[in-house]
Amino acid sequence: MTSPESIIVISRHILEKIDNFQVGTIGIILGSGLGEAITKLDKAIEIPYSEIPGFPQSTVKGHSGSLIYGFMQEKPILVFSGRFHIYEGYTAAEACTTVRVMGELGIKTIFITNAAGALNPRYDAGDLMLITDHINFTGHSPLTGPNHDQWGLRFPDMSKVYCEKLQAVALESARATAVRLERGVYVQVSGPNLETPAETRMLKMIGADAVGMSTAIEAVAAVHMGIKVMGIACLTNKNLPDCMAETTHEAVIEQAAKSSAAMSVLIKDIITRLN
Ligand code: HPA
Repeated sequence: MTSPESIIVISRHILEKIDNFQVGTIGIILGSGLGEAITKLDKAIEIPYSEIPGFPQSTVKGHSGSLIYGFMQEKPILVFSGRFHIYEGYTAAEACTTVRVMGELGIKTIFITNAAGALNPRYDAGDLMLITDHINFTGHSPLTGPNHDQWGLRFPDMSKVYCEKLQAVALESARATAVRLERGVYVQVSGPNLETPAETRMLKMIGADAVGMSTAIEAVAAVHMGIKVMGIACLTNKNLPDCMAETTHEAVIEQAAKSSAAMSVLIKDIITRLN
């Protein structure tokens, strides 16, 4: 499922369905509950993951599982609505199939979105957070195993995972559209259980502002392939170690769905500013 050969097979299948696939396409991964963040693409072609041979399947409620290609402000966009997680039983490499396929298709820029819990007490449920850096706390790397030299280096540098230029554009967009955009460090845990108060305290102490179960490994796979990454977390719940509130998956999905409109405005504006 994750060998270069299998990624080529998946990519060929996608190209057969999307005959006008263009150079310069921007890739977007939509996280839990954020399926509504990108709804109207011009000339849209939708391919359910279930119709892509060899493609993993989303097993989680709130992750719709389809690929959408189309145009926004005349720019070509490939949206992965639904992703794969380590907690579903996928290896870190398998969970990054979306990214590997984008790399194989020649995509050079990707926006990764997710739902996350706020750890920084100044941030609230409903805020969006531009990811400035990450901590991969899963204990897994998508690069484990033989390195595929055609994808990237054995020991890729991770000193600037989240493209500084894209971050600057995102901040400009946030100002122009009056969408509140916090900034911070995202920590990825394996899940699927949420964190205890002690774990939450530790994650804050090691420097994280938000916690989630995706993104860091995807960003690593993208940087490995030389793809520029922008990450935006949708903060769906507030985790304060000294007065931990209960969180449910349903509440996370509901809050992410509410923030989809702001995410949508921001992403559209960012795309208009890219050349
Ligand atoms: N923890 C981990 N992942 C999450 C959370 C959280 O609090 N909220 C949304 N995804």
